[in-house]
Amino acid sequence: MKAMLLTGQGGPEMLRYGEAPDPVAGPGDVVVDIHAASVNAADYKVRRGSSIHSDIRFPHILGRDFSGVVASLGVGVTDFAVGDAVFGVTAPGIEGAYAEKIAIKAAIIAKKPPGLGHVEAAALALTSLTALWALEDTARLKAGETVLIQGGAGGVASVAIQLAKHIGATVITTASPSNHAYVRGLGADTVIDYRTQDVATAARDCDVVFDTVGGAVRSGCYAVLKPGGRLVWIAPAPEGFRPPRSDVETLRPKVDRDRAHLLRLLELVAAGAVRPPTIVRYPLADAAAAHRVSEGRHLQGKLVLEVR
Ligand SMILES: NC(=O)c1ccc[n+]([C@@H]2O[C@H](COP(=O)([O-])OP(=O)(O)OC[C@H]3O[C@@H](n4cnc5c(N)ncnc54)[C@H](OP(=O)(O)O)[C@@H]3O)[C@@H](O)[C@H]2O)c1
Repeated sequence: MKAMLLTGQGGPEMLRYGEAPDPVAGPGDVVVDIHAASVNAADYKVRRGSSIHSDIRFPHILGRDFSGVVASLGVGVTDFAVGDAVFGVTAPGIEGAYAEKIAIKAAIIAKKPPGLGHVEAAALALTSLTALWALEDTARLKAGETVLIQGGAGGVASVAIQLAKHIGATVITTASPSNHAYVRGLGADTVIDYRTQDVATAARDCDVVFDTVGGAVRSGCYAVLKPGGRLVWIAPAPEGFRPPRSDVETLRPKVDRDRAHLLRLLELVAAGAVRPPTIVRYPLADAAAAHRVSEGRHLQGKLVLEVR
């Protein structure tokens, strides 16, 4: 099969379009002909070597979420048939979606409804699992609460804003001015230009903060929380960072892969509560160009690789 091969750690030039062995479905697996694979921030981190992936062997195939069509079934798979359109996210520590085919446990993928395109399903898979685990399972965000979502125009936040509004929360978010109309369109009630405004002054008495940006942004998240508030994070704080308050919770969601969360996403899409983020498409062979945009850290929505 054709695949985008990571030939070693370094810059985007380490990505080479080439040949890789076709995957084989083990017991409980399906092999999927991939139509679209999304680009996640984790991908450039693995590429650079700044993400924990100690046993990486080159050439390595990046990519965690995809949409495609079942091509073959491993022993014991009864819930899919060859030809079913499916989408999903690889298990933690496993990658391989920047390719024409992937083998994956059938138990962690779901059927893709015809009304949702492959590109859109790929864009929604990991972003939605992350937003659901963060806001519903970890923060347990409730109607009437106020949530600050840091980095509103990013992939995960694009879903999180919509999910928080659907739950019935008031949503405050941060974004550059060029993204303000976008995040308002997703449902944000208040938008803070983090480049010119002090977030701690512009947002107050939040029940929940969802930090999708991390780094220096993390310390500023605490001042806006009510006593007893919850800070949920998915992007790391600087090394050695210690939470400055003991009267709030600091929580990291465990983003498990399971079919139940993908079905929850489909329920939200069918109800009109969540729509796909802005998507910029690249051919698989141009993954390096997508990486350059991703690591610039100012994209709107998602980057998706079209495979076929
Ligand atoms: N399972 C997990 O734990 C999990 C899953 C998915 C992602 N992640 C991590 O979560 C992070 C976000 O991922 P993503 O894919 O959603 O992000 P992304 O799409 O790469 O996010 C980029 C966004 O960050 C915003 N941004 C950059 N600097 C900012 C700042 N100082 N303040 C506010 N916003 C800022 C940019 O907004 P403007 O252009 O408006 O400035 C841009 O829209 C990454 O670190 C990723 O690795 C973790």
